[in-house]
Amino acid sequence: MPTEPIASDHLLDAQDLRDEGERLSLDELRALQLTRLQQTVRHAYANVPTYTRKFDEAGVHPDDIRELSDLQRLPFTTKDDLRESYPFGMFAVPMEQVARIHASSGTTGRPTVVGYTKDDLDVWADVVARSLRAAGVRPGMKVHNAYGYGLFTGGQGAHAGIERLGATVIPVSGGQTARQVQLIRDFEPDAIMCTPSYLLTIADAFEDVGLDPRETSIKVAICGAEPWTNEMRLELERRMGIDAVDIYGLSEVMGPGVGSEFASTKDGPTIWEDHFLPEVIDGDTGEQLGDGETGELVFTSLTKQAFPVIRYRTRDLTRLLPGSAQATMRRIEKITGRNDDMIILRGVNLFPTQIEEIALDIEHLTPHFVLELTRSGRMDELTVKIEPTAHVPHEVSEAAAHILRVRIKERIGTSVRVQVVACGSLPRSEGKYKRVYDLRDK
Ligand code: DLL
Repeated sequence: MPTEPIASDHLLDAQDLRDEGERLSLDELRALQLTRLQQTVRHAYANVPTYTRKFDEAGVHPDDIRELSDLQRLPFTTKDDLRESYPFGMFAVPMEQVARIHASSGTTGRPTVVGYTKDDLDVWADVVARSLRAAGVRPGMKVHNAYGYGLFTGGQGAHAGIERLGATVIPVSGGQTARQVQLIRDFEPDAIMCTPSYLLTIADAFEDVGLDPRETSIKVAICGAEPWTNEMRLELERRMGIDAVDIYGLSEVMGPGVGSEFASTKDGPTIWEDHFLPEVIDGDTGEQLGDGETGELVFTSLTKQAFPVIRYRTRDLTRLLPGSAQATMRRIEKITGRNDDMIILRGVNLFPTQIEEIALDIEHLTPHFVLELTRSGRMDELTVKIEPTAHVPHEVSEAAAHILRVRIKERIGTSVRVQVVACGSLPRSEGKYKRVYDLRDK
């Protein structure tokens, strides 16, 4: 269910502000995509040995791409392909033309390294500016940027887009939450960019010093970089008196701003399809699924020079939805899970966001929870450690925990333990929040 924009007075008529790409008709968009796809495929095949080899093995040549549906003839690219070419093996231009490098940390193994030419950085700034505009940010507004700066794409990616839009960037980066609170009070930003879990930390920090987070100057938060639910959106909007919109992206494809949500509808990120061609596939068979069907999101970049990606498997699960009143380009359903986050508990699939959704609907429970996987004998067990709201008597929080356990059993179909822990005892997010602790081999 989309939530109504609460701070809608700042939402001017976005239709007049659309850039050239956003104004394309559907036919023009598809024609542009085809031309750009053909260019990208030729460029990747000619300059990246991994693509040359994979195309040759699949018996497909760039000349075979005559229409958009021919995309399905091309082989997929996976994170392993990128890892094997560490650090620069999949760059498609000489290093002298690479203006910037980013890397995603990766929980296991080598990081994934990505590169950008000056033109790539230009496109990136444009799509982030577009994303901000969709969120209701306008030139002249101040934007507090609390995405981490550094090798992570969040900080710098957001930064360039804020500047490109003509807004004022306040480059705070993540962490040092007390200082974030002070800067928000002193500099009075109109908008904030950070992960949803970090926005929660910031809201808590306001309350910790006796301030009402609804009283800040912030009207809109542009949140992403991790899965979050509509229930979490409502919680953030209610606690801070803001609109919270969803910005999506990943380093391999660009960074933040591959797609973003319109504050006026909040119905899932619009994918900026003139630069990133989306597909949804069946993760097991690799078969392309129709719009509306849920599966794994796959992207082909359409304009990137330094690091083109062909059919890159994101491992993010969602479905493609038709364009909205604001845009011809398609949307994705808000992403609430990725293959990698899926817990298989005694044969039942479970995502942390499912717990978030259920817990946020129960009085006296907070979104502060972690999941611990342990093994007793041959049985895997999952414990939800969750904080209650402040000043709640023990019996009340135990009753809430009981409801949580019952609803998880009812809705997900598996038994878990629920343990109420002291307020403030769980780690707080400073960026992407780690929810799952697998202690089975410990
Ligand atoms: O997280 C880029 C980004 C920065 C996006 C700031 C938005 C805001 P990576 O570190 O490469 O890049 O992580 C990419 O994060 O495949 C998703 O699993 C997840 N993710 C990103 N945005 C969203 C979102 C950045 N809005 C991975 N909703 C992706 C759900 C998201 N998951």
